[in-house]
Amino acid sequence: MPQPKHSHHRVFVTRPVADAALRRLAESARVDLWDDDAPPPHDELVVHLRDCDAVLSMVTDRLDAGTIAAIPRLIAISNLAVGVDNIDLVAATKAGVAVGHTPGVLTETTADMAFALMLAAARRVAESDRFVRAGRWRVWTPRLMLGRDVWGATLGVIGWGAIGQAVGRRAKGFGMRVIYAAHNPAKKTAPAATAKSKSGAPARKPLATAAASSATASTDAECVELKRLLAESDFVSLNLPLTSQTRHLIGAREFGAMKRGAILVNTARGAVVDQAALAESLRAGHLGGAGLDVSETEPIAVDDPLLKLPNVVITPHIGSASHATRNRMAELAVDNILDVFAGRLPRHCANPSVKLGSGKRSSPPVASPKK
Ligand code: DGY
Repeated sequence: MPQPKHSHHRVFVTRPVADAALRRLAESARVDLWDDDAPPPHDELVVHLRDCDAVLSMVTDRLDAGTIAAIPRLIAISNLAVGVDNIDLVAATKAGVAVGHTPGVLTETTADMAFALMLAAARRVAESDRFVRAGRWRVWTPRLMLGRDVWGATLGVIGWGAIGQAVGRRAKGFGMRVIYAAHNPAKKTAPAATAKSKSGAPARKPLATAAASSATASTDAECVELKRLLAESDFVSLNLPLTSQTRHLIGAREFGAMKRGAILVNTARGAVVDQAALAESLRAGHLGGAGLDVSETEPIAVDDPLLKLPNVVITPHIGSASHATRNRMAELAVDNILDVFAGRLPRHCANPSVKLGSGKRSSPPVASPKK
């Protein structure tokens, strides 16, 4: 990758991301790319970061207090994700390290995935596919692979941020009744969404964010207490961030409070759910099924009890994995780094109270390009 002659800034990119975004980053910084789909082991991560001003990280890279403290030059962490649960935000803020993330651009794609999992679990799509491929389809019968109707059912969305609302809008198109309990991540990121550039102009707003906010009004969803949501929903979709408050938010008690036969869809984070309790509720026949894009440990162990259950549809954390969206995420992750190199907060900042450089970071000043 060509490296700029004039920049003092160094960035470690922990996985190959979209070429165009990487090339743009390389015009302004010296880029060290971890050119492997497997993540750098943690000690390698620390070694590569030692002389870096910024890291373009993934959800699988642990950036805890110790790691942040060990990298004196670091001024920016830019996560290729909306979720930032892999980063110690308090430590980053204290150290004067700005944390960028990629909300908005992945909203609709992730909502599509939630709906795909909901339909797949309800209509036994993956199970039917396995059935046909195994040569078990010998005859058509009116009792074959009976599932549940999505249309006309009640969807409960836990977490009414941009993604939750996008799931709600899709549900309306299916004639569903939509209720939600608001663990609202959008509120927490609101300051970043309205961040101004240095010139005072509002930061570029991702199209998906604009679409989501304008369409919310027509969702016609009712806000209810979690308890009521669990009791009334035929489908429960989790669309909230993982924090210390939401870890194991849904466990044995909550599954017990759900309707018999209800289906859980999780495109958020595995640890929002007590996975052992989920497996038990499914095994006991109380829950009707689950559509999971995430698990408590990723990758999930092949001998995990969940994988033995035919009514679980599981995908490998690919909620935002469309070509176009991953390209947009990479561009936004680069924008977030370049914002910090230009002396301002990332346009999507997960710790907007950070004072850039307040942790006495030793990054050199921005060099002006030689003409
Ligand atoms: C996110 O954006 O948080 C996803 O989980 C990673 O793509």
